[in-house]
Amino acid sequence: MLSMFSAKAVSLTINDTLVVEQASVKQTVLASALAADIVFPHYCQVGSCGACRCQLVSGEVKQLTDSAYVLSAKAIAQGMILACQSVPKSAINIKVNLRQRQLADEPQE
Ligand code: FES
Repeated sequence: MLSMFSAKAVSLTINDTLVVEQASVKQTVLASALAADIVFPHYCQVGSCGACRCQLVSGEVKQLTDSAYVLSAKAIAQGMILACQSVPKSAINIKVNLRQRQLADEPQE
């Protein structure tokens, strides 16, 4: 029987590779990726630079801040999120160019 106080955890998949089996739902996607030694692109970690943008392929996240001033409406419609401002609500699969250095609004290929 599960304890009613047990912490919920979900899996984090990046570019179709499972990288964290038990990611905390209290930690951002970026924090979980960095804790798993993933060299995830990031800079400010407060939702203002856009360096951590990635595409949510499946699953749900809770956005901690409004990303509309960093991501275009088109990018948001295509599922782009800010990893530093997104906390998983379910198992998620994201797509990110782990070698990206420049800011861009387009989904990663
Ligand atoms: S690291 Fe700057 S917006 Fe996420």
